[in-house]
Amino acid sequence: MQPKLKSKVRCTDGEVGEVRRVIMDPLSHEISHIVVGVGAADSVERQVPMGQVHGVTDEVVTLRGTSAEYATLPVFNRDEYVTTHEVEIAHLEERIHVTPGEVLVPFPELERSVKRRTFFMNFTHAIGFLIGLPIAFPVLRYLMKPMYAPFDNQWLKIGNSGKIKQDDVGVQFKYKRKIKEAYMPEQEIDKNVWVLKATPKVLETVYQGKDMEFHDAAGKLIWTNKKDVPYIAYSGKCPHLGCGFKWRTHKTLGQVFLCPCHLSIYDAAGKVLDGPAPRALDPLPIKVTATGDITIIDMEFKAGTKAQVRIV
Ligand code: FES
Repeated sequence: MQPKLKSKVRCTDGEVGEVRRVIMDPLSHEISHIVVGVGAADSVERQVPMGQVHGVTDEVVTLRGTSAEYATLPVFNRDEYVTTHEVEIAHLEERIHVTPGEVLVPFPELERSVKRRTFFMNFTHAIGFLIGLPIAFPVLRYLMKPMYAPFDNQWLKIGNSGKIKQDDVGVQFKYKRKIKEAYMPEQEIDKNVWVLKATPKVLETVYQGKDMEFHDAAGKLIWTNKKDVPYIAYSGKCPHLGCGFKWRTHKTLGQVFLCPCHLSIYDAAGKVLDGPAPRALDPLPIKVTATGDITIIDMEFKAGTKAQVRIV
């Protein structure tokens, strides 16, 4: 008869606990030890070889020695075993007749080796990484350079203010810009901005009484739009998701900038009047010469964000 879980365990001179677990020999598929404990679940448990078991009944397991001898048996260490739920043992139920509970087998040696192998493998990778770093670093730096290239802050001529016939009316200026993306050859793309000659009321809304400063990625001031210069240029990309917008007449709002993609509407000062746009239109650095030539610094900003984040 096999020992049952929860059976009382008695030595020749008294009870020492109960069967908490059984340990199975993975080769013979026989119970090799019982784990005996008493009191709280986390109290000391001892593993008793089946050779020490004198008899087994439905309720009691009797041991050969005294309780003093029992106390010298090795303390059970749970970390050295896995349950039979964790390792597949074929036909287990046919060999072990314990009531449901924890049946343990020794932690497989192979698994222990895998842990050691994993450690050495990771260690080898770490050493390889350290050795390879000086070689890889210049290559990585070269590959990542375009990501950290400074913004292009050159002034582009986009047209002449003579094209603007009315105050507070958006006029589109188209221009071409050469760009070089990462490792691609340089190409010329079509771009546009909306410029208006603003009345003092619109200027006040845009500038809120302060000059508007533009900085480079390092925070250095590159240009200041003066609050009393009437020309304002807005990036041609809608701050919602970057679509192109138009100057249109709205049946109730009058003349507005209207983005057809998701119907964001902005007034002449770039303020959002309606729609999903998270911020006002993006003003750009602008200069207008005495002869009316308009130059801008072509900047692009992240779409969909409340804060203005320059990306180009
Ligand atoms: S992109 Fe302009 S409203 Fe969505």
